[in-house]
Amino acid sequence: MRIVDVQIAGRAYPIFIGRGARRQIADELRRLGGVETVAIIADQTVADLHLPKLLEAFPKPPVQLFVQPGEASKSLDAAARLYDGLAEARLGRKDVIVTFGGGVACDLGGFVAATWLRGVRFIQVATSLEASIDASVGGKTAVNHSTAKNLIGVFHQPSAVIVDLDFLGSLPEREIQAGLAESVKQAAVRDAEFFAWHEANVSAILGRSPDALMHLISRNCQIKAEIVARDEREENLRAILNHGHTIGHALEHLLHYELRHGECVALGMLVENELAVARGLLPRGVAERVQTLLHRLGLRTCLPRELATEDVLAACRLDKKNRAGAIHCVLLSAIGAPQVVGGVADAEIVAALAVVAPK
Ligand SMILES: NC(=O)c1ccc[n+]([C@@H]2O[C@H](COP(=O)([O-])OP(=O)(O)OC[C@H]3O[C@@H](n4cnc5c(N)ncnc54)[C@H](O)[C@@H]3O)[C@@H](O)[C@H]2O)c1
Ligand SMILES: [Zn+2]
Repeated sequence: MRIVDVQIAGRAYPIFIGRGARRQIADELRRLGGVETVAIIADQTVADLHLPKLLEAFPKPPVQLFVQPGEASKSLDAAARLYDGLAEARLGRKDVIVTFGGGVACDLGGFVAATWLRGVRFIQVATSLEASIDASVGGKTAVNHSTAKNLIGVFHQPSAVIVDLDFLGSLPEREIQAGLAESVKQAAVRDAEFFAWHEANVSAILGRSPDALMHLISRNCQIKAEIVARDEREENLRAILNHGHTIGHALEHLLHYELRHGECVALGMLVENELAVARGLLPRGVAERVQTLLHRLGLRTCLPRELATEDVLAACRLDKKNRAGAIHCVLLSAIGAPQVVGGVADAEIVAALAVVAPK
C-alpha cells in the first residue's frame, strides 16, 4: 500500500492506495476520535457490487444511505433526501460521513458533509478511476445547477481518502478510459515525464496491470496533492487543472451527459490545444502527440454528433473561470507548461472546434 499525504496546513490528510486499503477505515475512525455514528453515502451500483466487503472494515455497522448512479444525482434534491437520512440517524457534529462510489458520490457526499451541521468530517472511498485520481482529492464538493455543472458547492477537505484497488476491478472499460483522460490532463499540465510514461505503457494501463494502475493512481494523487496544498482555493496554481475543462464542461452540458465527464475533457483538451496551436503558442507536433495518446487509450477524438456552435459558446460562457463574460481557457505551450489565457474570442473557439468535428 502507498500513502500520499495532502499537506494542507492544519488539515493534512492521507490518501491510502492499494489492495485492501479499505482496512484503514477502522484506524482512521479511531484517529479522528469522538465518533459515535458513521453514515455511508453510497452509489447504488457500487453498493450492490462491493458494500459487504466495505462493511467488514467498520468496527460497528454504519448507517447506509444510497444514491442512484449517474450525474443527475448531483442535485439539491438528492442532497435533500440525504439530509433526511442524516436527520433520522441523528448524525452529530463529531460524527463521520463515508462516501462510497465514483466522482458523483464524492462530490454529492462531500457537499452534504460540508453543509450538514455547517460541516462534518468525511472520508472518501473512491471506486472509479476518475474519483481515485481526481474527484476524491482536494476538497471541491458540489452539486449541479440546471444551467451548468458544479455551480453550487463548497470547499471542504476530507479527513482521509481510500483508493482500494479491489473495488476498481469491476469498473467497465469505458469508465477506465474516461478516468485516463483526466490522468493525461494532469500529466500534460504538470509532469512531462509522467506523460511519456503513459505513452510507453498504454497496453499495461489498458490491461489493468496492478503495477501500472498503482503508479498511475499514486502519481496523479501526488500531483493533485502538491497543487492543492499550494493553492487550496484555486486562487492561482490550481486553475491549471482546468485544462480541457472550459470546452469539456460545455460539451458535457450540451451532450446531456451522454458522454462521460472524462470523455468530454479529452475532447476539450483537443479543442483547447488546437486553439493554442492557432495562437502560435503550442507546436502542432505536441497537439498531435496528445491526440495520439488519447486515441491509443481508447478515447474518442471526435464529437458523437453535430453541435450548434452558438450553443457551445453559450455553454462556455457559463464556466466558473470566466470574468465579465470573457472566456478563459488553460492552454499549453508545451507538455508540463500550462497558462491561464483570458479573453478567448468566439471565432477562435469556433475554428478550433473543427478538430473534433463528427466523422
Ligand atoms: N471534485 C472534484 O475535484 C472533481 C474532479 C473531477 C471530477 N469530478 C466530478 O466527478 C464526476 C465524474 O466522476 P465519475 O466518472 O467517477 O462518475 P460516476 O460517479 O458517475 O461513476 C461512473 C459510473 O461508474 C460506476 N462505478 C463507480 N465505481 C464503480 C466500480 N468500482 N465498479 C463498477 N461500477 C462503478 C458508477 O455507478 C457510475 O455509473 C463528475 O460529476 C465530475 O464533475 C469532481
Ligand atoms: Zn475533470
